[in-house]
Amino acid sequence: MKLLVTAGPTREPLDPVRYLTNRSSGKMGYAMADALARAGHSVLLVSGPTRLEVPDGVDFLPVETAAEMFDAVRRHIGRMDAAVFAAAVADYRPAAAASQKIKKTGETLVLELVRNPDILGSVRDEFGFNGTLVGFAAETENLEANARDKLQRKGCDLVVANDVSKPGIGFDSDRNEVLLVFPAHSEVLPEDEKHHLAPRIVREIERLAAERASA
Ligand code: PMT
Repeated sequence: MKLLVTAGPTREPLDPVRYLTNRSSGKMGYAMADALARAGHSVLLVSGPTRLEVPDGVDFLPVETAAEMFDAVRRHIGRMDAAVFAAAVADYRPAAAASQKIKKTGETLVLELVRNPDILGSVRDEFGFNGTLVGFAAETENLEANARDKLQRKGCDLVVANDVSKPGIGFDSDRNEVLLVFPAHSEVLPEDEKHHLAPRIVREIERLAAERASA
């Protein structure tokens, strides 16, 4: 299969020396890209800035902002059989990026933020993607209900939900515990290394893609 994977954070510039970002090391998304490539698939990794090495055998498209990630996904998704959205995309960006460093003038500074595009949420209706679609959900409460809402709203076949309020898993960590949320059921993958969870998620993606192909 040909797959696109998004990973890492996005950076939304405020001025030439500052940006807004989301917490994400990229480890979960890179583990997915690595596991997919090891399983023999062709992978394009669209990644925000991370400190990680690109996994062997994976095509790499680096981006900085949510708008750049949106454009990269729009350009490449049409030739993909499946897509996995593990990136932590900033939902808002500064309304305008100052061309010069913002100076300290008052005791407070009010920033105006505008919504970024919902990349995963654009894939079905706006980009017309008909392949297997896997989202992630980073939640701090109501894990299953919130993930199931995202599954339905964004037209996913699977949402991989993680509770990012739990210490030792989720953001930055090498470990995670995930809830696989499918349209008709859910399944817990207990805490383990991200590199051990990823091949397990890959097998579910392969099963979903085979079901879609035979439907
Ligand atoms: O990178 P690590 O340090 O390893 O951490 C892993 C992780 C916690 C970042 C990862 O497992 C994870 O949960 N990724 C999704 C983070 C997220 O932003 O979730 P969300 O619930 O806000 O978004 C839901 C889905 O929509 C995600 O698939 C996200 O990629 C996508 N999205 C969100 C906003 C947006 N503007 N565009 C999107 O495509």
